[in-house]
Amino acid sequence: MLDKVEISKKLIDFESRFGRSGKIDVCFAPGRVNLIGEHTDYNGGLVLPFAIQQGTYMLVRPSVLPPARLYSDQLGLEARIMTPDVTKKNDWADYVRGVYLYAGETVCGEIPPFDAMYFGDLPLDSGLSSSASLEMATVLGLGSLGCRLSKEEAVKVCRRAENDFVGVACGVMDQFAVAFARERNVILLDCDTLEYRQIPYNLKDTVLVVGHTGVRRSLTDSEYNERRRECAEALSLLSARVGPRKNLSRLTIKEFEEARWSIPDTLALRAQHVIYENVRVEEAARCLETGDPETLGYLLNRSHESLRDLFEVSSFELDTLQEISAAQPGVWGCRMTGAGFGGCVISLIKKDALERYLGRVPGLYWQSTHCDAGFVVTTPGEGAMEVEVL
Ligand code: GLA
Repeated sequence: MLDKVEISKKLIDFESRFGRSGKIDVCFAPGRVNLIGEHTDYNGGLVLPFAIQQGTYMLVRPSVLPPARLYSDQLGLEARIMTPDVTKKNDWADYVRGVYLYAGETVCGEIPPFDAMYFGDLPLDSGLSSSASLEMATVLGLGSLGCRLSKEEAVKVCRRAENDFVGVACGVMDQFAVAFARERNVILLDCDTLEYRQIPYNLKDTVLVVGHTGVRRSLTDSEYNERRRECAEALSLLSARVGPRKNLSRLTIKEFEEARWSIPDTLALRAQHVIYENVRVEEAARCLETGDPETLGYLLNRSHESLRDLFEVSSFELDTLQEISAAQPGVWGCRMTGAGFGGCVISLIKKDALERYLGRVPGLYWQSTHCDAGFVVTTPGEGAMEVEVL
């Protein structure tokens, strides 16, 4: 999170942009890292995400007349929400417009006009859920205008904004993690039932490092929707063999292995990833509970290989950073996190090996890719919240 001095400076920027009048509210929603359980959420599977310290801030104040005026400090771009017909403009503010529209429609009716400024320290398009963070900060901002949503409603509204308004067919993990995260805990979420459990993160003498490959990814342009389609097709073909199943995660490894020959190879590889990854999540949760970084690291490495070779959502840079990281002394394991196709690698490292890791890996990575990687040491943080500045 940014400190109070930095936030106060932004309050001054807000006033010079929108003028001085009443009180400005400050809302914050973090980004997230998914420890393990990748591309399982839209297959009704298990995930193990946690919130990070970096995130999106929204400064918000009611105004007198519509339209709502928006400004993204990170992008240096203005936008508006024109009412009553809120339509898509294909810009950054569509996430905000979607939340505004569905929060109004489904929960609180009319929302008063407002001015809002967004800023933060979360890199965009990096697999750390900057979009869910923007959406959830907006939910809180609307709350300060009188449109309060429960966490469950917020998750639904944000996901709908992303699926139906922006047009990205994401699962539920990101919005859920950003809303429900608790400091020093990792969430074990069943994406089919939305049952969840907070698991205390207390692996002794380890640190989590998020390494950004320096390559941004674009979900909408990527093969994300294609993977979803392949999973749906695999499910329907496998169901014809083993009996109807609601989603891929409902197949056991045994059922899958007995039926895999009956479906096209590529689809079998995709399904294999999902079904085995789901089991890895259960095992990883056990490792957190029993305090076993060694097995957890092993699972992270296997997850990465599966995403690389079976699900094929990794990239040259992600593989290079993962491979270099995994080879360093004191690294228990590492994997790409998020949708893939660029973005970040999460590494589980012994505390006393951290300095050496940070001293060596950036250079080695640059030699292989000619990209600058960025590294942040992180711990599971708190979910979305209003921030008291004064
Ligand atoms: C993106 C999506 C999530 C999830 C991950 C992959 O972050 O928004 O719903 O599917 O990719 O695990």
